[in-house]
Amino acid sequence: MKTLTFTVARFDPATDDSPHFEKYTVEVNEGARILHALHAVRDAIDPTLAYRYCCGSGQCGSCAVRVDGEPVLACMEEATEGMVVEALNLPVERDLMVEMESYLSGMEGLVPVGETRLLTRAENDAIRPLRDCIECLACVSGCPALQVAEFSGPTAMRQEMRIALDPRDPRDRVERTVADGLFTCTTCQRCVQVCPKEIKIPGKAIEKLRELANRKGLTLPKHKEVALLVQRTGRSVERIKPTFMEQVPDVIEPVGEVKGEVAFFVGCMYNSRLPETALDMIEVMRRNGYRIHIPKDQVCCGSPLIRTGQTWFLDELKHTNIRVFEKTGCDVVLTMCAGCGSTLKNDYVTPFTVKDVNEVLTEGGFEAPEKLPVRVTYHDPCHLYRGQDVHDPPREILRSLVEEFVEMPARCCGAGGGVRSGLPEEAAELGRQRGEAIEETGAEMVVTSCPFCEFHIAEHTDKPVINITTLLREGYAEKDEGSEEEKAGEK
Ligand code: SF4
Ligand code: SF4
Ligand code: FES
Repeated sequence: MKTLTFTVARFDPATDDSPHFEKYTVEVNEGARILHALHAVRDAIDPTLAYRYCCGSGQCGSCAVRVDGEPVLACMEEATEGMVVEALNLPVERDLMVEMESYLSGMEGLVPVGETRLLTRAENDAIRPLRDCIECLACVSGCPALQVAEFSGPTAMRQEMRIALDPRDPRDRVERTVADGLFTCTTCQRCVQVCPKEIKIPGKAIEKLRELANRKGLTLPKHKEVALLVQRTGRSVERIKPTFMEQVPDVIEPVGEVKGEVAFFVGCMYNSRLPETALDMIEVMRRNGYRIHIPKDQVCCGSPLIRTGQTWFLDELKHTNIRVFEKTGCDVVLTMCAGCGSTLKNDYVTPFTVKDVNEVLTEGGFEAPEKLPVRVTYHDPCHLYRGQDVHDPPREILRSLVEEFVEMPARCCGAGGGVRSGLPEEAAELGRQRGEAIEETGAEMVVTSCPFCEFHIAEHTDKPVINITTLLREGYAEKDEGSEEEKAGEK
């Protein structure tokens, strides 16, 4: 047995306007789950503590709560000293119980029409990734789109696609899902991160429903424009100034000896809108001993097409990119755009390894810069953090680079999934919330590692928004200046 002290958000609708926190100390077995800790409070301290549970084994979905802000199943997650247990971010009925009925009753059910039959193996295989939902609503509670837009939410979309794939239910799901906010999803992957059944709702349901919507001519006008631009130019962004690739040779040598060799997948935004940032990254890589190949006939990775359901010429883009990068002979393809990196890693099958610049620098070891006297926070790009599972590397770089690094909760800024172009008001609201979160950190500057986030967040904060490699280059410049001054002092 062990003693455990933790905090629970209590709420009684008869007496409270909002939840308040109570601390409890209980005796539990080693390895006890959160549910056991709640039982201990109820049995030994306060029998009125309200929470739901049924199966106790991760099957019924009734026990979902937030622990230290993260949605989890109370019966599956180990109880930890000092944890804070709260209700899901949904209307609270009492203590840890939320109102689920109105959401769940609004979800469509399968309605077979005519002769029913068993599904074929192929039909079953297609539906399987969407079938395992236990209706815990963890995804609904964490979805940023649902909080700012008219959206039926992730698991309702999952259910719509599940029905769309079932030939026994011939109803057309597309118009309903468009009306229910199909295009409001930013593809932030938060729902995947919190789902105890690891259901990949954006990729397996939302993007697929958007493909069905595209076939019915329901793609948003702004998204259609982007697809036509990619089809016409191979790029998702218009050229408005000399591009990155116009400014660099095919191969760039490192400053000293060659310690590694990579091929750089530039991405449309860094190529056409932010070439200066890509040049900063190149200088950082050169300084750390990398030879960099830049194949000039690379094209858009296709991310804007996949996210918006316009995949009819995606294979051409994929074939072109794989062919031109294979020709470089490099084992590693380097990305610095979170969206491109996530697409190459998750939507392609490549004969090479794809790595984000933060991964390459931290795995290979990078030269320590001069620490800059500034307080910064870091915005996790969804497609880097959740899309590529890259969380620690940028933090490792920042801790070596700035005097003070303050964390900020990871949350979508609203730029992804075609929302910034297609539904700018929703994107602006999420951006505004990100601006507030930045303000709360007291940071003088926000660092990130994605061109879309850089552009979007800059519109919603008065703090400078800077790419991590640009700041690292500044750290190296400070270091060089310091050594110059030292040398001058010695003379
Ligand atoms: S990907 Fe993000 S915005 Fe889309 S449904 Fe999931 S949580 Fe919501
Ligand atoms: S999709 Fe996952 S997180 Fe959402 S309700 Fe179903 S099981 Fe829970
Ligand atoms: S009690 Fe059933 S999932 Fe936790």
